[in-house]
Amino acid sequence: MNLAIIGTGYVGLTTGTCFAEVGHNVICVDNNAAKVESLRRGQIPIYEPDLEDLILSNVSAGRLSFTTSMAEAVAACDIIFIAVPTPPNEDGSVDLSYMEAVSHEIADCLRPEYGYRVVVDKSTVPVSTGTKVSQVIYRYAYEGVEVDVVSNPEFLREGSAVADLLHPDRIVIGADSQRAMDMMKRVYQPFNAPILEVDLHSAELIKHAANSFLALKISYINAVSAVCEKAGADVELVAQGIGMDKRISRNFLNAGLGYGGSCFPKDVKGFINISEQLGTPMEILREVERINASQLERFLNRVREKLWVLRNKKVAVWGLAFKQNTDDVRESVAIKLIRRLCDEGAHVTAYDPKASETAAAVLKGYKVDIVDDMYDCVADAEVLIVATEWKQFAVADLVRVRELMKLPILFDGRNIIHGENAIHAGFEYHSVGRRSLYPQA
Ligand code: NAD
Ligand code: UGA
Repeated sequence: MNLAIIGTGYVGLTTGTCFAEVGHNVICVDNNAAKVESLRRGQIPIYEPDLEDLILSNVSAGRLSFTTSMAEAVAACDIIFIAVPTPPNEDGSVDLSYMEAVSHEIADCLRPEYGYRVVVDKSTVPVSTGTKVSQVIYRYAYEGVEVDVVSNPEFLREGSAVADLLHPDRIVIGADSQRAMDMMKRVYQPFNAPILEVDLHSAELIKHAANSFLALKISYINAVSAVCEKAGADVELVAQGIGMDKRISRNFLNAGLGYGGSCFPKDVKGFINISEQLGTPMEILREVERINASQLERFLNRVREKLWVLRNKKVAVWGLAFKQNTDDVRESVAIKLIRRLCDEGAHVTAYDPKASETAAAVLKGYKVDIVDDMYDCVADAEVLIVATEWKQFAVADLVRVRELMKLPILFDGRNIIHGENAIHAGFEYHSVGRRSLYPQA
């Protein structure tokens, strides 16, 4: 099938590429001309495992192309996916201006002679946005165009986007027209995954409810981690114990510095706002946000307690990305942590395998040294903080790290380092929701 993807960011680029990989012809449209140019040259603007190879092979197979021309894509494609940003407004509501702009542009490009078109919302949007997209299209398009709007929320995770797209747990299609539903099922037929067919509004709500539930799950274990710290229990064992119950599952029960990224913080806010607008407030999500914010504060208090004052202390931070396997630093807790340390006068040196450039851009004005090597990062440091769950931090040579540092203090904000290894290397080891460990005298 011929598919257009409007917006070539994390979602649009990876989704478009995977559609091409299963045999569809895909045109990716973006209004950022520099991005389109670099994609045409084979330069991929984001880091996502396995993505680059898939893009290059599908471009050379002639199934994937990039353009700034909406008109070209709308003329050629039966199905037009929208994957543009839906950021939060100051008041927590969702900024739908990108959605509106794209809907209007699609309308301008549609012609009755093209025949039936399906417009698919892949961006994460408040319930009933699809109806508004449809209204905008019919308001501005030529008389005689025939369009249905569908919701097809995306559940990929950054860092494993290609695998998530090629092997999804489920595909949700929300359509109020059988014709549109049938076309969408043909798009997804090669993926061999369960398809849930629902109405438009339910599909939109599934996405906000799913992200909010996952954020809630993380905040739940983080709240439990605070209790564990006071009670002398071990949150990892508690997570294991409750996660072995299939009804709960161990997934998304990793205590840490809290969730970040471009989606959970924004989507929890968005869902709170929508539920309030509808007169059915999801108060529980306010508590989810409060717990998430307090997780970093509690951790910082413990670092402060250890070092007494942070001013002029040399602090090494491993991790800048909001999670492992990505260069994305949007709403990264590691970045928030570094800003707080700098504000208090600490001298911060940081390392991340992929996010140095993106982090440098958001840390402008902060005195942080971002270095290219995780061992250079710790030289002379008085404390090492692990802020992102990259695997390479879990298998670091801790004896070497200890030798390079000025003081043997390790704070593991993601519980990924083996505590016993840390104390054998001579560290005192502090983690989240567990007792601190000290080397034997
Ligand atoms: P992004 O910022 O990475 O990419 C958006 C792209 O849209 C950019 O390249 C931008 O230039 C382009 N764009 C903006 N206006 C445009 C226009 N008028 N015409 C053409 N292109 C335009 O955003 P993203 O992370 O891919 O997120 C997109 C949507 O998908 C959001 O609603 C987000 O909540 C949702 N989502 C994101 C993820 C994720 O992991 N990032 C996962 C699931 C859903
Ligand atoms: C999340 C969802 O997992 C995806 O299903 C969804 O499509 C996406 O948001 C979206 O809508 O954009 P993503 O933000 O890419 O994906 O990454 P996650 O793996 O969910 O991690 C989000 C944050 O939660 C990270 O900061 C991570 O460190 C943190 N996290 C995750 C925890 O603190 N504990 C956990 O157990 C899991």
